Amino acid sequence: MRTKTETVFFCRECGYESKKWMGQCPSCHNWNTFCEEPVEKKTSGRKNGRTGSGPEGRRPVLLKEIDAEKDPRFDTGFSEFSRVLGGGVVPGSLVLVGGDPGIGKSTLLLQLALNLADAGKKVLYISGEESLRQIRLRADRIGQTEGPLSFLSETNMGRITELLEEEKPELAVIDSIQTMYSDEAQSAPGSVTQVRECAQALMVCAKENNIATFLVGHVTKEGTVAGPRVLEHIVDTVLYFESGDGGAYRILRSAKNRFGSTNEIGVFEMASSGLREVLNPSELMLAGRPREASGAVVTCLMEGTRPMLMEVQGLVTETSFGMPRRQASGMDYNRLNLLLAVLEKRLGLQMNRYDAYVNITGGMRVAEPALDLAVLTAIISSLRNIVVPEDTIVFGEVGLSGEVRAVPQAEERIREAEKLGFRRVILPAYNVKRLSGEGYSPEAELLGVRSLTELIRLL
Ligand code: TYD
Ligand code: MG
Repeated sequence: MRTKTETVFFCRECGYESKKWMGQCPSCHNWNTFCEEPVEKKTSGRKNGRTGSGPEGRRPVLLKEIDAEKDPRFDTGFSEFSRVLGGGVVPGSLVLVGGDPGIGKSTLLLQLALNLADAGKKVLYISGEESLRQIRLRADRIGQTEGPLSFLSETNMGRITELLEEEKPELAVIDSIQTMYSDEAQSAPGSVTQVRECAQALMVCAKENNIATFLVGHVTKEGTVAGPRVLEHIVDTVLYFESGDGGAYRILRSAKNRFGSTNEIGVFEMASSGLREVLNPSELMLAGRPREASGAVVTCLMEGTRPMLMEVQGLVTETSFGMPRRQASGMDYNRLNLLLAVLEKRLGLQMNRYDAYVNITGGMRVAEPALDLAVLTAIISSLRNIVVPEDTIVFGEVGLSGEVRAVPQAEERIREAEKLGFRRVILPAYNVKRLSGEGYSPEAELLGVRSLTELIRLL
């Protein structure tokens, strides 16, 4: 086998490969992300003679002969974490946990390791960033375990996979993938080629030995380190750990999941003894809500299977320039423009004379159409200076003709609102009809609306 060394340019955000340097990546549209890396071009054969086939052999198998009775999932000890994973850790899966440095990835995975070790699972935590002493100090803050949890400080991929094959733990944590290096690739640790090579080696190792493997990947704004997006297509599951509003709250969301839905989110709070789950995030989202203020309204949206109450705030002021300003935080900017256009056309409100700002509090980003009615209610409330009673929630989709359309899972939303003491619900009339057809009669008063005109009349 003849080898020849060349250099190639990679985008460190998404891993796009190019022969030439480019200012903007044509794939992810980020600027100035290309870096040069040596790659070994193989003229024949593949690395290690591996052909990329899975551990199951190379012959086709009939569907009915495939054994679907896989080992049951492990419980993470956190119901928030298990739900995001789709019901627990799948044995032999490769999970990437991305997030900004300092957000709490190592803490989250150390807690996961402690929980699984408590449940008697064999766990190996490999850190390339911290010394064993530092890990020990962190574990002391969080809690101890008598279970089979061991630590290793190592960055060489060859030695790591050898050890994993020898020890065969049920769970392995690699903190972080950007500090690991493989002798197979020539570039520096953290480069696109290295990060991919290491992830690939871990994938093979995880599948062959049935080790559930969690990789930590730092999201880097600047610098020369490859980001976790480079690995998204290699791993089974991609989770992002982010801070909701820059405070102590952390949101775990899934961007890709081969074993579950990607709509679920988990909410955590960083405390002095590690992360704590927040089991009722609605209360958290509504904490500190202004009373008797115009322009604020509560809505109930679905985050995966869970209803969540959020406050939508609107601010409308007369514009002082020719061009009205619009700003949307937490929702899609174009959707806001569209809703304002509907308001202008269907209700005859002169929205082009006003600046409009919409904010979803609690740092959530919402893409659900059920938000529409609450956004318009907040805008109308601010424009007309009408206070929406504080025991009212609003949800529903708005169409281009100003009609209010039905949304799914109305019952769950109403139940969640009732739990937190809401007494009135403004919702699509069609949903009210369907709910009464199903014999559901909630304690809260249901006010069905068919169009925006009816909404204005209600307010
Ligand atoms: P860490 O898990 O090291 O972040 P990452 O691995 O994502 O870089 O978390 C670091 C932050 O968390 C640090 O600022 C300290 C804080 N922290 C707490 O507030 N409480 C704790 O119990 C622990 C362990 C960390
Ligand atoms: Mg860390």
